[in-house]
Amino acid sequence: MAKSVLDLIGKTPVVELRSLSPRRAIRLFAKLEGQNPSGSIKDRIVAYMLQRARDDGRLRPGQEIVEATTGNTGIALALLGRQLGHPVKVVVPDNAFGDVVQALKALEAEIESVPATLGIKSAIDVAQEIARRDAAFLLDQFGSSDNPRCHYETTAPELLSQLPDLDAFVCGLGTGGTAMGIGRRLKEQNPAVKVIVAEPHPGHNLQGMRSLAEGNIPPILDLRGLDAKIVVSSANAFRGVRELLRREGILAGLSSGAVLYAALKWAQRIERGRIVMLFADSGWKYLNSPAYSLDRSLEDEAHTFDEVLWW
Ligand SMILES: Cc1ncc(COP(=O)(O)O)c(C=O)c1O
Repeated sequence: MAKSVLDLIGKTPVVELRSLSPRRAIRLFAKLEGQNPSGSIKDRIVAYMLQRARDDGRLRPGQEIVEATTGNTGIALALLGRQLGHPVKVVVPDNAFGDVVQALKALEAEIESVPATLGIKSAIDVAQEIARRDAAFLLDQFGSSDNPRCHYETTAPELLSQLPDLDAFVCGLGTGGTAMGIGRRLKEQNPAVKVIVAEPHPGHNLQGMRSLAEGNIPPILDLRGLDAKIVVSSANAFRGVRELLRREGILAGLSSGAVLYAALKWAQRIERGRIVMLFADSGWKYLNSPAYSLDRSLEDEAHTFDEVLWW
């Protein structure tokens, strides 16, 4: 019996994807972070970062919290911030999926919309400005070392207890917190483990992910901690989520489709191994997106995109 919703964060399941494995010697596993209370991995960093800020006095009881987000962090913050007694303001690019905005509204977060054309950097600038103006606490997922530290201290040991002998870890790239924190811990335990990120194409529409080619490398991201980044088109990510649902019965978020695609690319490079993928959220928020619209034209479009393997 959990004492509160905060105690329900983490301990997410890992499932083997037998139908999607390209051959016997490749075993694919997915860690399902969509099973966190607000529906994504971001519950972990939000709870951890707020706790640390409260412990060292940076966040005062009842103080407003502000953050720039394309969705999941805002949803986690709106849900958990309220539980901890804080009003929450989120700065969201105006191309965020309608269902994400709807979730933020339902959670009674205050929403400040910024033009998507100006990029997430401008959302971060606006959040910083609001924090200064209103003496609000800025969560700062893009810049705070508490983000990767959360994954280093909590998510990675949890994963290792579930799958101690993995060979490769694949996750999506947003702030870089997941890849940095989990990757460092896995490599400390076994330096042979490969850490691979799925990166979206520039101009993509994969919620929560970030293209480095669009500039502004997040301050917490250190590319030296990665073995490869695989650039995935939106169309291939969409195909990935559809295959996950059809063949494995997993309703996954869009970045998980990209992660699956990247993992299968990596599998072409190796003879055998256990590849674990991190699925950051589930598919409910995206049922109205093109990925789940069963629009056949997307399948053709997939051929017009290149996916690039770097390093
Ligand atoms: C759906 C989704 N996938 C992947 C990521 C990337 O995670 P990280 O920010 O730890 O790099 C995010 C982050 O916002 C996300 O919301």
